[in-house]
Amino acid sequence: MRTVIIDCDPGTDDAIALFLALGSPELDVVLVTAVGGNVGLDHTVRNARALVGLSGKDVPVVAGADRPMLGSFVAEPRVHGRNGVGGVVLPEGPPAAPGVAADAIRAVLRAAGPGEITLVGIGPATNLGLALASEPALLDRVAEIVLMTGAWAEGNVTPAAEFNAWNDPEALSIVLSCGRPVTVATLEVTAQAVATTAWIAAQRGQGGACMAAACDILASVPPSARLGGRGSPQHDACAIMWLVAPDMFTHRAVHASVDLTHGPGRGRTVIDRWGKVPGARNASVLETVDAERFFALLGERIAGLP
Ligand code: RIB
Ligand code: CA
Repeated sequence: MRTVIIDCDPGTDDAIALFLALGSPELDVVLVTAVGGNVGLDHTVRNARALVGLSGKDVPVVAGADRPMLGSFVAEPRVHGRNGVGGVVLPEGPPAAPGVAADAIRAVLRAAGPGEITLVGIGPATNLGLALASEPALLDRVAEIVLMTGAWAEGNVTPAAEFNAWNDPEALSIVLSCGRPVTVATLEVTAQAVATTAWIAAQRGQGGACMAAACDILASVPPSARLGGRGSPQHDACAIMWLVAPDMFTHRAVHASVDLTHGPGRGRTVIDRWGKVPGARNASVLETVDAERFFALLGERIAGLP
């Protein structure tokens, strides 16, 4: 059983990832924090509250950063719709807990023992970067940091950069260099976890309100042209599934950094899989996932929610 904090920007794939986490007995989700990303913080907080509320789990949701550490905020409504969950209207969830995300994350870390907390970042890393940079003494409480971010090769928001990394590269750089174990789910592994219309159709009628919401949200996402229109990649659920069923994945120790320049390469993750960069391997990158097992377990866990 892992004690987990999830920082997210729901977001259609965040919604599926949250349901997977909240429906998996391997994880004890003690805090959900929201960050501006796919859509503005007002929407991501509302969506996080609604998704946790639908799950029936008593997990506090705390609002965090509404913009990156540097630069201006940019959303991605083309994929996630103006409300962040494809226009699907979710029942209002419980109110957000007071305070701000970085403080809430630090409070959980302060109350934990060494290596007790796993941090999961499935949006821009602003909240995680703020929390870790402002109280480094708490780093030893972190067992592992799992991020959906980056790409070895082409990005999805610019030719060079993946959306989360591009949105706050400075925050990502802080997290990548914090010294704790970091596992990264990049676009290359998430491209292997594509939700098809056939799979979505097969889920309908399973489970309860969470599965119904998940299917409606997934059905709202345009098939990814980047992936040949096969369906929608479940980026964020890959980060969660690594914690739930790590044997579904292969992975490799790498050196990972992020381009902080202000040119066309900004936000590019430079992932060295072949030891070309001298020095420590500061991360592990997920390389492959067993898609059949992934979607079988994903469906089972969401169907198990209310
Ligand atoms: O590039 C994919 C990532 O950006 C996912 O986390 C998605 O939710 C968006 O935040
Ligand atoms: Ca996300």
